[in-house]
Amino acid sequence: MKTIRMTESLMSYVNGHTNLFDDVLAQLVADTERLGSPAIMQVGPDQGAFLTLLTQLSGARRALEVGTFTGYSGLCIARGLPADGLLVTCDINREWTALATTAWRRAGVADRIQLEIGPAIDTIRALDPAISFDIAFIDADKTGYIDYYEEILPRLSPGGVILADNVLWFGTVAEPPFDQSTMAVRKFNDHVLADDRVDVVTLTIGDGVMLIRKRP
Ligand SMILES: C[S@@+](CC[C@H](N)C(=O)[O-])C[C@H]1O[C@@H](n2cnc3c(N)ncnc32)[C@H](O)[C@@H]1O
Repeated sequence: MKTIRMTESLMSYVNGHTNLFDDVLAQLVADTERLGSPAIMQVGPDQGAFLTLLTQLSGARRALEVGTFTGYSGLCIARGLPADGLLVTCDINREWTALATTAWRRAGVADRIQLEIGPAIDTIRALDPAISFDIAFIDADKTGYIDYYEEILPRLSPGGVILADNVLWFGTVAEPPFDQSTMAVRKFNDHVLADDRVDVVTLTIGDGVMLIRKRP
């Protein structure tokens, strides 16, 4: 089997080989780093660029995000949408998302992003059932992933895509012992795998991303 051992220098080479990382994103990384340990939650430049390109390639017009944090992934998704597109993004934290709204304004995409503060499951359930989404990114509390997935899938357009982040959970998912978080991630991964409504592939980008396509 062909595998690559990831090192810091290789990771920085990978992150250096996208032309979608710019000054606005660099500023957001710096602002987020000042928060200290929570900064680890931010997606990396490679994953952000992947989100932008996948959003563009899929022709998505409406996007949904669970887990805004300081707005990096949301900004990347919004950049892949057309000017009249919409990203609805959910979080519970006002302090972190204040950094997000500043970055979105700097990037000129604030008008296509709707931030919803409150438990994401309530936000999703309250969405207008007539609105369908073309792409969704799940990146919040791991124990909620199955519920988010089950609520989002019926609201996804046929052929639409869900991306679930952290599905390799720092590389702990394959070998025991499994702690509670790892168990939650494994349960989600198996749940999706057993679902015949979707096609799925697990990517080793970032902390592991599951790419899920709703069968038309
Ligand atoms: C891993 S971070 C998201 C990182 C973000 N996607 C990025 O790239 O910068 C997870 C976020 O989920 C939020 N969160 C946790 N539980 C939540 C819930 N029940 N509803 C909504 N957001 C939640 C946290 O406040 C945190 O900002």
